[in-house]
Amino acid sequence: MAMKCVLMNSFIKNLALKNHDKCAAAITRFISTQKSASSKLFFLPASPSAKLLQPTTTALTATRFQKMDSKNFSTSGPQPSNLTFRQLLDYATFTYTYILGDNASKKAIIIDPVLERVERDAKLLKELQFDLIYALNTHMHADHITGSGELGRIFQNCKSVISKHTSAQAQKYIDDGDVIEFGKFKLECLSTPGHTDGCVSYLLRDHGLVFTGDALFVRGCGRTDFQQGIPQLLYNSVHKKLFSLPDHFLIYPGHDYNGNMSSTVWEEKTYNPRLTKPFEEFKKIMDNLNLPKPKLIDVAVPGNMVDGLLDKK
Ligand SMILES: [Fe+2]
Repeated sequence: MAMKCVLMNSFIKNLALKNHDKCAAAITRFISTQKSASSKLFFLPASPSAKLLQPTTTALTATRFQKMDSKNFSTSGPQPSNLTFRQLLDYATFTYTYILGDNASKKAIIIDPVLERVERDAKLLKELQFDLIYALNTHMHADHITGSGELGRIFQNCKSVISKHTSAQAQKYIDDGDVIEFGKFKLECLSTPGHTDGCVSYLLRDHGLVFTGDALFVRGCGRTDFQQGIPQLLYNSVHKKLFSLPDHFLIYPGHDYNGNMSSTVWEEKTYNPRLTKPFEEFKKIMDNLNLPKPKLIDVAVPGNMVDGLLDKK
């Protein structure tokens, strides 16, 4: 324990000094002292109001630090925690796809896969030796076609999932409070309508991760001017469901157009330029965005109605 404290102090001190090489060395030695596969690592707080040191998994931390010293944080081999977590980008539509896998049972799920990236995602899942059991959609998208149906053709145990409050086809329909299990992990479904009437966020509570789809972006939110979008509903969803989560919970959005990958509840409660405003002001902003119609909406929505299985249209 004393050694771990010394290493963490070294990590924090060098982080403050922006000495990334020394940071990486300290964190690598710390991880090597972790004997149990389920042991926890502590890292710097996500917000000033969060507890000084918050627990997260070593796998997540390894992902965060892989740029600093990639040879010490191999992403191709077994990971030191029971959770594998990947954030993938569709660079054509700036859509994020997430893979979460239980390393013990080798069961995995994917959130918001994109049809054009199915080959990439399936290859990665196979390389990591995961059995994909659910392909989850946060909502019926208007800017791209989902890959959930095609993934079900590649992985025979995979079921596509979407909210029961949409008119899209899927193999499993979910509602607020439902739980999706993969191995020993439990993903909670939070109904967060407003961008569309069937928007859902997925919460991995034990790890403090929430996948918000288009309900909440980093310093933004999804538009409310089509697909049954209603500003009041979106405002309530974010304030009641997402902003009531602990401040340090990490937010992983459905898109980002500015290069951001994640945020925290505290950051968005403090800095989101739309959702920090009183409702009337929020509504005015949303009613005056004057955005063009999404380029692919006439292709994407009919495609998503059939779970991305275009030969079934
Ligand atoms: Fe959307």
